[in-house]
Amino acid sequence: MPTLSRRLELLPLPNAVGKGAEDRGVAWRGLVGGGALLLATGCQGSQSALDPAGTAAEEIAVLFWVMAGGATIIWLVVIGLFAYAIWVEPRPHEPRRSRLWIIGGGAIVPTLILTVLLAFGLEMLPRLLAPPPQGSRQIEVAGAQWWWRVRYLQDDGDPIELANEIRLPVGQPVQLLLESEDVIHAFWVPSLGGKIDMIPGRQTRLTLHPTRTGVFRGQCAEYCGASHTWMAFHVIVMPEQEFGQWLAAQQHPAETPRGEEAERGAAIFRARGCGACHTVRGTDARGVVGPDLTHVGSRHQLGAGTLGTELEDFEQWLQGPEHFKPEVRMPAFDMLSPEELRALAIYLQGLQ
Ligand code: CUA
Repeated sequence: MPTLSRRLELLPLPNAVGKGAEDRGVAWRGLVGGGALLLATGCQGSQSALDPAGTAAEEIAVLFWVMAGGATIIWLVVIGLFAYAIWVEPRPHEPRRSRLWIIGGGAIVPTLILTVLLAFGLEMLPRLLAPPPQGSRQIEVAGAQWWWRVRYLQDDGDPIELANEIRLPVGQPVQLLLESEDVIHAFWVPSLGGKIDMIPGRQTRLTLHPTRTGVFRGQCAEYCGASHTWMAFHVIVMPEQEFGQWLAAQQHPAETPRGEEAERGAAIFRARGCGACHTVRGTDARGVVGPDLTHVGSRHQLGAGTLGTELEDFEQWLQGPEHFKPEVRMPAFDMLSPEELRALAIYLQGLQ
């Protein structure tokens, strides 16, 4: 998919305005075509509130279109009156008629329209805020600078912890219990539902009810420091059975990756003290400062949405995480030789 800057380059932008009617025509067509292209590409994708994949997002999309439609009608009426005022033959004002226009158009009509739109918006609020049915799955998500701690609560036993990725079964409502470990963050997966703040010392709740499978991008939506932009995650909505298998696999401790290099990587992981910050269940790494790495190799992305999960991505991240996430708390391991970095990357990628 072309990047936005590339898309802009491809647009037939007007560079000949004022050189004649034909050029102006080209310019206008370029503007209209470019605008339509931007609009069309902006409506789709894995992070679009206008391409809903959840019940709450569907309601919010309807609200948007109704508001946009209402605003368009009002705009057309105002522009129409403006044009009429310019083109009409000037004549003396009749005080009574003028008053009618001012009171009617300036007070009564806007009040009526805003009341109708407000009622329409408020009417859907109880549905958007309603908790899911009793017994629905609960997932704790905590925002931290600049990643996401995710814990699947279990009826029996300890929660299953992972990071920077949430998987959900399609067609089932889940309740997210949201909090923060440091500053205010905001949880937002535009394709699935509304946006809600994550506040230190307080729990906020959000219900997501995905209606189709797919990979959807979430993004922190409250400025929270240098790497706010790089605080993303993915929500992977999957068929129920597949989800059950995935969660069962996540519950298991890590299987130690086999092979000479992976074993060397595991030794480096221990020797360099990585376990002081990270947990790898099934080993003596039990740190809780950073993301749980038990199954890091099976995740969709690395560094909370900043890198892929190829070996090179692991190496680059280990070598200098601050290049991808300014002010990140993880130190750079650039003192390791290329061979050591590769071995560590092979070990981490092998944690499936
Ligand atoms: Cu967390 Cu912005």
